[in-house]
Amino acid sequence: MENMKSARKNDEGEVGSDLSEQIKAATKNNHIRAENTQLMLSYQKGQITLPQYKVLLCSLYVIYKALEEELDRNSSHAAVAPIYFPQELARLEALESDLEHFFGSEWRKKVIVPAATQRYEQRLRKIGKEHPELLVAHAYTRYLGDLSGGQVLGKITQKSLGLSDKEGLSFFSFPGVTSPHRFKQLYRSRMNSIELTEEEKTEVLEEAVAAFELNIQVFDDLQKMLSITAETVNRSEGNDFKTSRFPSS
Ligand code: HEM
Repeated sequence: MENMKSARKNDEGEVGSDLSEQIKAATKNNHIRAENTQLMLSYQKGQITLPQYKVLLCSLYVIYKALEEELDRNSSHAAVAPIYFPQELARLEALESDLEHFFGSEWRKKVIVPAATQRYEQRLRKIGKEHPELLVAHAYTRYLGDLSGGQVLGKITQKSLGLSDKEGLSFFSFPGVTSPHRFKQLYRSRMNSIELTEEEKTEVLEEAVAAFELNIQVFDDLQKMLSITAETVNRSEGNDFKTSRFPSS
């Protein structure tokens, strides 16, 4: 609760009652923590490697598959319909084509699902089934992030991996969104039009904090897994990811 009280204030002073303002304030510190995970720091320094990017794509695929299936299933729910923008935002097909690019036509057999990614997926499924009014917290966290810092990350990925043009980078490209800035404004106004009780609103804010934490755990898990894999590869050459479910922590 203390957390949620502070969500109503930010550095500039009072935060209004709009969901879009409150959610940004509530997740401000989590955003800073997400930006400062080792994986995101490597990213910002242009040090993302192909193995890192490949496992990240696998996790994103699992996450967006769950998110978008749950959004689709609940698309006419009063708290989902205003923020349901499959044409503009859906990432699943883009991720499938990126995975095919990097793993080949048999990519489905090669997708690895680390433990934290599995937990994120399960949370999305549970929310979709039991509390669709909280899906907005997850959609906000991923899609507005993709339309913000994600745009820079796309350019960095292309450069870091030395990819020519847009090959394997569909995830970062939103052909249905002409101006990310204007689209984010529209998205925020749609979020603000959702009718929520005070209690539901608090729950949405808490779920957004949880969504950021799930992302942080995914990044930390991938980082840990990659350093273990790198050690193993160093010790016994020629190793490859073959696990489809990758338990950890
Ligand atoms: C917004 C950068 C990682 C979620 C933004 C903005 C920037 C940014 C510059 C725009 C801020 C504004 O318009 O006021 C970055 C960088 C990251 C990163 C450099 C990592 C290298 C993440 C992650 C997530 C995320 C991991 C969540 C999974 C968001 C969200 C917004 C946002 C939801 C929209 C905030 C709002 O306007 O309400 N980010 N970000 N970001 N980011 Fe990130």
